[in-house]
Amino acid sequence: MLRTREAGLSTTDGGRVIPLLPTLSASALLRPAGSAWRGWFPFCDNGPDWTFSGRGALHHGLPSLSLPRGSTILVPPYHQGVEIDTLLGAGYRVRYYRLGEQLMLDFADLERRLDETVSALYVIHYFGFPQPLRLARSFCDAHRIALIEDCALSLFSRDDGVWLGSVGDLALFSAYKTVPVPHGGLLVTKVKRERPSLRPAPLGSTLVQTLDLLHEGLKASGWRRTEQWLTRATRWVAAAIRWERHRAVSAGIGHWDPRLLTYGASPWVAWLTRRVDPAEVVARRRRNFERLASHLRGRLSLPFPALPPGICPLFLPVMVSDKASFQESLARQGVQSADWWSRSHPTCPPELARDVAGWRRHCLEVPIHQELTPGDMDRIADAVVRVLDETETSQHHPGPLQS
Ligand SMILES: Cc1ncc(COP(=O)(O)O)c(C=O)c1O
Repeated sequence: MLRTREAGLSTTDGGRVIPLLPTLSASALLRPAGSAWRGWFPFCDNGPDWTFSGRGALHHGLPSLSLPRGSTILVPPYHQGVEIDTLLGAGYRVRYYRLGEQLMLDFADLERRLDETVSALYVIHYFGFPQPLRLARSFCDAHRIALIEDCALSLFSRDDGVWLGSVGDLALFSAYKTVPVPHGGLLVTKVKRERPSLRPAPLGSTLVQTLDLLHEGLKASGWRRTEQWLTRATRWVAAAIRWERHRAVSAGIGHWDPRLLTYGASPWVAWLTRRVDPAEVVARRRRNFERLASHLRGRLSLPFPALPPGICPLFLPVMVSDKASFQESLARQGVQSADWWSRSHPTCPPELARDVAGWRRHCLEVPIHQELTPGDMDRIADAVVRVLDETETSQHHPGPLQS
């Protein structure tokens, strides 16, 4: 199925690159606006507030919880890092708790971490898979602390009919990870709150990040000529508006940039979101996840091998022994993947960081998003198997996971 054109260059299929995240294509732009998404959380009821990024949503939602200043928020040791920075930047302390099997909350451990300074529990739903929300809610109610749901990786996901993000006192989402928009965070809170006062999204960033999405879309469709033309056009636009990528406000950056907290989302983001059919997004992601997992089961360790109903998976996580070199080998075959979360936040105690070190070292995220076809899943599976075969299966099989 696969043919490598040149060592070190993309594998064929017309040079198509399989993108990690959804991209913008002409068909996405020409699609008429639908209203289906209004029935989907967090867009139903009163709707969310749009912010530039997920961390901005968290920052602007925190005051609605009226937590005592300087109080302690319980946080997990497996995190991106910017969510921890946001809590610290807002004047709270953090205390880490232990995660159990499959990164699940361990309530006995949480109980031990409580004292009178604790005001909230921060939970992350990893890759779209739910934490036990009913138990988390009861735990928080019993101890009179707030529940914060981090749904940055979990837009449109449900657990037994319950929307992720609908149980906590505050939930934040990172829309651009699931749908093709240049930026966008979403904030939902249980209590009514003032709309955050936000500056308009910077035009240059919106324009260039939209062009980036179009560019990725062209790479994904194999339109090399048009893609090269667009690359030049993007460079020209960036130069004309004096946009410097490393200095610009940019959604999706992994490091702390306080400017991201101050901006709202562009109306363009809401316009694009109206062209998305959430039911289709969920159905296609589930179909792709199942197909890829079925190809890879038994070949390497899949930390989330099953897909319970209602879940909208962000990626298929796979465990490999050397993430960086595995990712590079996949890229050479035209398959993008994510090597996220390699480092713990410096405030995480070493003994808790050690507990999730296996995840940080070995977990690689492979795309399964709505733009990809069953044929793309077969191509990804071929690429993964080829990398495994090239480098001795045993080396890429880190064995049982320690969470
Ligand atoms: C778990 C988690 N929370 C929060 C964020 C922050 O989201 P954003 O990058 O949209 O600010 C991220 C970003 O990757 C994340 O992974």
